[in-house]
Amino acid sequence: MYISKRGTKLLENYQPLVKAHFLCAENPWAANVNPDGYINLGTAENHLVFDILKPKLNASPGLEESHTHYADLHGMKVFREQLATFLSGTTSHQITADKLVVASGSSAILDMLMYAMCEPGEGIIIPAPYYAGFDHDLKTRVNVEPIPAYTEVENDFKITQEVLLQALIQAGKRKIKVRGILITNPNNPLGSVYSEQTLQMIIAFAKENKLSIISDELYARSVFGKRSYTSLARLTEEAGVGINLVYGFAKDFGLSGFKAGALYTTDEKILQVVQQLAYFMPVSNATQKILYNILQDEAFLNYYFSENQLRLAAASEFVHTKLNEAGIATYPTEAGFFVWMNLSKWLSAYSFDAEMELYNHILETGKVNISPGQVFHSATPGWFRLCYARKPEMINEAVNRISEALGALKQVSV
Ligand SMILES: Cc1ncc(COP(=O)(O)O)c(C=O)c1O
Repeated sequence: MYISKRGTKLLENYQPLVKAHFLCAENPWAANVNPDGYINLGTAENHLVFDILKPKLNASPGLEESHTHYADLHGMKVFREQLATFLSGTTSHQITADKLVVASGSSAILDMLMYAMCEPGEGIIIPAPYYAGFDHDLKTRVNVEPIPAYTEVENDFKITQEVLLQALIQAGKRKIKVRGILITNPNNPLGSVYSEQTLQMIIAFAKENKLSIISDELYARSVFGKRSYTSLARLTEEAGVGINLVYGFAKDFGLSGFKAGALYTTDEKILQVVQQLAYFMPVSNATQKILYNILQDEAFLNYYFSENQLRLAAASEFVHTKLNEAGIATYPTEAGFFVWMNLSKWLSAYSFDAEMELYNHILETGKVNISPGQVFHSATPGWFRLCYARKPEMINEAVNRISEALGALKQVSV
């Protein structure tokens, strides 16, 4: 059968990390049952909260006949209203249901947003390292070019005006028209939150260069460090500029399998375009009803989020301690499920090829899947992301295996 050029390109770009995810899923480690299986710490999922969610998820959702028929394909009105209340509390900014579009995951939201916002070949600046899936979300169907704005460890991975300006200059050299800037706050893969000062600088930069602002705030309620999170929704309103806020249930709610995400946009035309596209990727009414039941129970939400934060904080401390004891340097984590760690002393050469070699070594000999920094567009080789929202026994086993795999290698000074 004929395969389109677009389809062929997609097959050629099949990501090795997706392969690793399924390799681990086929033969997963379990302490007693399958002690030689793979441990997947490469996928950003929260495995620490199901016991809290279980009673809510297993209670009868109270489905009615209306749920069995077509409703608004960009999200049932009652669901959007409940979500608007939740997001207003989360962002400290008044969010209304009429400016929300619900769709099957934040990736779907970003794909539609790119369709609405950019011509094929145009660019979006993204401070790097950034979540690897953005490449897929931006490029696959709409062919929008992610332009990395490289932040560096020497400057505490800070987003500065200089870093953004360099990205703009690089895009100019490649004759790419830049339409917007995409921020992830709290950040994946760094596990950090941005200060209000940094966010204000980003707004000023976007304003000066006529760029739209997109803020992915999927980890807003998974913050446990000393610094609190500030939403760009509030700051942009105060600055009199628009916002496209992306949210979802995959991270804060540990419900990645539900594939539910949302866009809040202050731009009426973007809203209308995305509403129309949502026809192709809606969330089922039954799923929306389950999520509605969770969102409308304020007492449960308060308990759930405070417990989630405690568990993430404990898991973060555990993994940092274990890694540091194994001689692995880590970047401090304030939010999310990640530890960004430096394995550059074990590279056979200071290159991204050597980083991939090290990744394969840990996967093949240690049977642990962690993610190499190059997929996040790290500026320098040797960084890896490990997702730690797992039970301590699994983290313990994984770090021992990583340590053993590294022990088999010669350390070099870089
Ligand atoms: C920053 C960020 N945005 C978006 C996504 C994708 O979310 P979803 O599963 O809702 O498509 C992820 C998943 O890892 C993420 O980390």
